[in-house]
Amino acid sequence: MSGRHHLFVPGPTNVPDRVLRAMHRAQEDHRSSAFPELTHGLLRDLKPVFGANDGRPFIFAATGTGMWEAALTNTLAPGDRVLAARFGQFSHLFIDTAERLGFRVDVIDVEWGEAVDPGLIGAALAADKAHAIKAVLLVHNETATGVTNDLAGIREAMDEARHPALLLVDGVSSIGSLDFQFDVWGVDVAICGSQKGFMMPAGLGMLCVSPEALGRIETNRFPRAYFDLRPQILHNDQGYFPYTPALAHLFGLREALDMLHEEGMAQVAARHARLAEGVRRAVHAWGLQLIARDPESRSNTVTGIVVPDGKDARHVIDHAFRRWDLALGSGLGRLNGRVFRIGHLGDVNALMLLGALAGTELALHDAGIPVPYGAGVAAAQRWYHESA
Ligand SMILES: Cc1ncc(COP(=O)(O)O)c(C=O)c1O
Repeated sequence: MSGRHHLFVPGPTNVPDRVLRAMHRAQEDHRSSAFPELTHGLLRDLKPVFGANDGRPFIFAATGTGMWEAALTNTLAPGDRVLAARFGQFSHLFIDTAERLGFRVDVIDVEWGEAVDPGLIGAALAADKAHAIKAVLLVHNETATGVTNDLAGIREAMDEARHPALLLVDGVSSIGSLDFQFDVWGVDVAICGSQKGFMMPAGLGMLCVSPEALGRIETNRFPRAYFDLRPQILHNDQGYFPYTPALAHLFGLREALDMLHEEGMAQVAARHARLAEGVRRAVHAWGLQLIARDPESRSNTVTGIVVPDGKDARHVIDHAFRRWDLALGSGLGRLNGRVFRIGHLGDVNALMLLGALAGTELALHDAGIPVPYGAGVAAAQRWYHESA
């Protein structure tokens, strides 16, 4: 098919030409005396993306899934009890990772499409008088449903319960796109990957660790090897990595961080909010429902759209891909067939999204859901014009 492919899954996202060009260069010696400049600069410039002053960032050749493992194994002891909310496929997988590593998980099950009520976390911690729960695991932005949790509220509930559990946050589809306040929200470990808000190919896993959690790394008895943060600290302090780093990705990250900081993190979050609102207005104009019920918790990085009863979201996705060269996100886990998703994060702007919305309308028709041609596009256009 001629012309550009339209990539609107919620990760991997579009890689800007600037980042592609930065990655397209010869390899170099990662033990040279010039290398620390790159390492130190990356670690320094990652901090404001996390909203961290006190936290310490780390970079691995890995993905978000690896970072779940790094967060858990560096801060918790074998068999520790943790509290987690399950409200979509990624929070489910975070819990599954913890269970497979032998942690005992107290699960709060929440309807898929809803955010986690901070009161539920507070009540579970308040009931744990013996402080047996060592950490709270939370996905900030559930990519499977397009729901964003109120992390400030959750921190408040934890503080009110006067419970010392660590707060381990999955920010895979929020960090680099949405407002993220590592210090203010008292996050202990935040994790993310390179293929979403960072506008890069998958391949880097990143995390930020609070001084409190760093203290536990030294004494923690959980067996670790590749994801052990101790050798990272030792080498990063000197400007190096304990293994051969993913050099092309590091060059790409340098450029991506420059782009994020040129725009400014507050503006990045505002752009995502504006673009997301256009998509939500389009869905409303189509007469379709969002899986995220509460307007307050609707995600600014991904929108999950429910197809009418008797229709199959997989047909929408397949027609979009095969006929219109448009990649939409699928319904994950129990949402498969009921939901399709539009990713609106990373290197996107209003005109790109209008193209994606036009393509979605065509694919909806192909799948037997005849929304009025142009209705969603017009609603989004109006909003983008008004809010420009
Ligand atoms: C919220 C969230 N957590 C974790 C993951 C897993 O990350 P990865 O696919 O980079 O391993 C994803 C992937 O989409 C995600 O959206």
